[in-house]
Amino acid sequence: MMDLSSNYLGLKLKNPIIVGSCGLTSNLNEIKKIEKFGAAAVVLKSIFEEEILKDAENQLQEAKDNAFIYDKYSETLDYIDLHLKEERLNDYIKLIKSAKKEVLIPIIASVNCVSASEWVSFAKRIEAAGADALELNISLNPTDLESKDFEKTILLIIKKVLAQVKIPVSVKINNTFTHLAQFVIDLSNTGISGLVLFNRAYTPDIDINTFEAVQGRSFSTPNAYIHSMRWIALLSDKVNCSLAASTGIHMHEAIIKQILAGADAVQIVSALYDNGIEYINELLKGLEKWMAEKGFNSLEQFKGKASSKNVGNPAVFERIQFMKYYSGIN
Ligand SMILES: Cc1cc2nc3c(=O)[nH]c(=O)nc-3n(C[C@H](O)[C@H](O)[C@H](O)COP(=O)(O)O)c2cc1C
Repeated sequence: MMDLSSNYLGLKLKNPIIVGSCGLTSNLNEIKKIEKFGAAAVVLKSIFEEEILKDAENQLQEAKDNAFIYDKYSETLDYIDLHLKEERLNDYIKLIKSAKKEVLIPIIASVNCVSASEWVSFAKRIEAAGADALELNISLNPTDLESKDFEKTILLIIKKVLAQVKIPVSVKINNTFTHLAQFVIDLSNTGISGLVLFNRAYTPDIDINTFEAVQGRSFSTPNAYIHSMRWIALLSDKVNCSLAASTGIHMHEAIIKQILAGADAVQIVSALYDNGIEYINELLKGLEKWMAEKGFNSLEQFKGKASSKNVGNPAVFERIQFMKYYSGIN
């Protein structure tokens, strides 16, 4: 019997596949389907900090006082009717409760946030509703030229949220930090239970006929896994928390590589939009077939086998310049 189980955020997962936060995880029917086709856990569609802050006038001011960058992200706040907001919060809590009642896999709630303002008290409602964990999608915008200390804001958000709840908290970040390796290690020592590397940033495109900026592709491509795989290989034996790989995981080979690099789990989104939720089953079959071919009975037998520490030549992961020796190209 093949053991695909993994430990992520202190939760026992029956296999390493988590469906990441997206439209597919925003309603119960899809969540049931996600469980039916074999995923080990689900991250609910995020609720946004702006949606949580109810009393626009008072709380916006408080938010501004707490995080100097808040006002740059709150442009939607004025447009959200307060009543609709309360309804939205209740719906989110209801979704957690009904998912916990109807499926057995862990339910990870998700908040998209940019400051450590009053929204953090909502984390308590998320916990009380029964969520198994809370993922924070901390979405500070690297195009912002005025804000200076994103790292400080992120550490403050984590501190405030950890003070509210006992359930495991994970943090999903993007990859645009000046000293990414050190910051990931620092984050892993804050008391969070896991990191999701990395969120996929929205990427606009340019139309060469109209000269206009246009919407880019919403979904990742199958070669995009390379980036998170590299950082997971580099950091998996240095961090003090679980790691989930995210972005560009479309095929079972990418799942295998992420686990070889040292990931405890993978989060998949675009591949399910492209192939349907049923595709989770194909991915699991591919993983099992490969394990059988290699003579592995459990994930533990190969997790981290190709991390930077264990691989023959760690410089392959560390190099940032192209060199003939490493690329084989003149
Ligand atoms: C349609 C769509 C909606 C998404 N919504 C959210 C969201 O609400 N919260 C979040 O943290 N990530 C969200 N994401 C990002 C995904 O969770 C994931 O990090 C990203 O798509 C990269 O994974 P992938 O390459 O498997 O798609 C969304 C992605 C897509 C495509």
